[in-house]
Amino acid sequence: MSWTRSDFPHGFQFGAATSAYQIEGHGLGGAGLTHWDSFAATPGNVVRAEDGRRACEHYLRLDEDLDLIKGLGVDAYRFSTSWARVMPEGRGALNQQGLDFYDRLVDGLLERDLKPAATLYHWEMPQPLADLGGWRNPDITHWFADFAQVIADRLGDRLWSVAPINEPWCVTWLSHFEGHHAPGLRDIRATARAMHHVLVAHGRAISVMRAAGLKNLGGVFNLEWADPAQDTAEARAAAARYDAIYNRFFLGGVFKGAYPSEVLEGLEPHLPKGWDGDFETISTPLDWVGLNFYTRKLLEHSDGPWPHYREVEGPLPKTQMGWEICPDALYQFIKRTALEYAPDLPIYITENGMANADEIHAGHVDDAPRLAYLDAHLDACRKAISEGVDLRGYFIWSLMDNYEWSFGYEKRFGLVHVDFETLQRTPKASYHALVDRLAHSG
Ligand code: FCB
Repeated sequence: MSWTRSDFPHGFQFGAATSAYQIEGHGLGGAGLTHWDSFAATPGNVVRAEDGRRACEHYLRLDEDLDLIKGLGVDAYRFSTSWARVMPEGRGALNQQGLDFYDRLVDGLLERDLKPAATLYHWEMPQPLADLGGWRNPDITHWFADFAQVIADRLGDRLWSVAPINEPWCVTWLSHFEGHHAPGLRDIRATARAMHHVLVAHGRAISVMRAAGLKNLGGVFNLEWADPAQDTAEARAAAARYDAIYNRFFLGGVFKGAYPSEVLEGLEPHLPKGWDGDFETISTPLDWVGLNFYTRKLLEHSDGPWPHYREVEGPLPKTQMGWEICPDALYQFIKRTALEYAPDLPIYITENGMANADEIHAGHVDDAPRLAYLDAHLDACRKAISEGVDLRGYFIWSLMDNYEWSFGYEKRFGLVHVDFETLQRTPKASYHALVDRLAHSG
């Protein structure tokens, strides 16, 4: 259904989201190498071995892009601060040009009356730290806290909100068990360690920022609904295991101070010694919870080794990513988060959106499926709000087409089309429709 601002509670925050490596151009401004540069340079990992060296050259086109955000009519902008841009070695020396860039970004947002919603880590692991084992090394929790301190000192007085780490599942399971993202490992022990350390690092960063006086600190979790592919006890157990690994492990660690038994079944022997003594750090209190949502999966039992499940293709309409469109799963997740994990905290949808095979014709991009996707998911949000959930905002992924990780520049998630030859930006039909809706309050 179509909507305007007045269909949402007063003060509901609409936003657009991006991340550093996906748009900035990491070859610019003295940024250090990241593990994504090495991953992309290894044949077979990324479509056409594309990387983020140039990306959208947001680093050079900051003002133009900030004007696009303002022109959209949103209230907030979610961006990330690249660790490797700020600290090329991951520790020690600061790249002043990098910090100056984020200064200009934050000031540029405030000048335009937009709220800066920062994420400290959206996957740009400095290569020198990856060389030391990255998320497998327990020291990363301290290195990351030091990075959080640097950002807090430089930008903390002007940030509206901060989350330490984008999507712990992608940082760990997708990258260390499935090998689809940097560092491209397929190793159960590395996975278990990374899953635990990422949560400890999250907690330490929150404490550092809290001590530095920052407010509105949260966590951003990506969730994927899991349904059994068949009506059997085995398929239901497979879906429950998938749900535990993907969703309940991270939310459970942070909000319940415990990991689900279905995950410990497979990972406990590989967790670092003394893991169960870390929950006080992991569960450091937050001010809000952010959910990134895209799709759901169907699972069936597999006789192979743990985790004994296999994905089955589902029947629902799909996006350019091949992901099923399932707004009801977003509604279910909002409710479940509010009821089971964070009953006292405001919830934000920190990412939602779709890739579409958008083409530009005579300066126009007709992306009707994107608008329909956003409308359906905003309906799900409104349903949850009408049932009393404290949902405070919704960020669209993404402001503009960008580097979609292992898919390179092929998948287009933007409200703004980017020509990756000329880097020309062209707002799509969905952008124009949103301008209209966000401007109207009745
Ligand atoms: C999320 C990521 C984001 C983008 C979208 C499509 O998992 O946070 O960078 O890749 O998916």
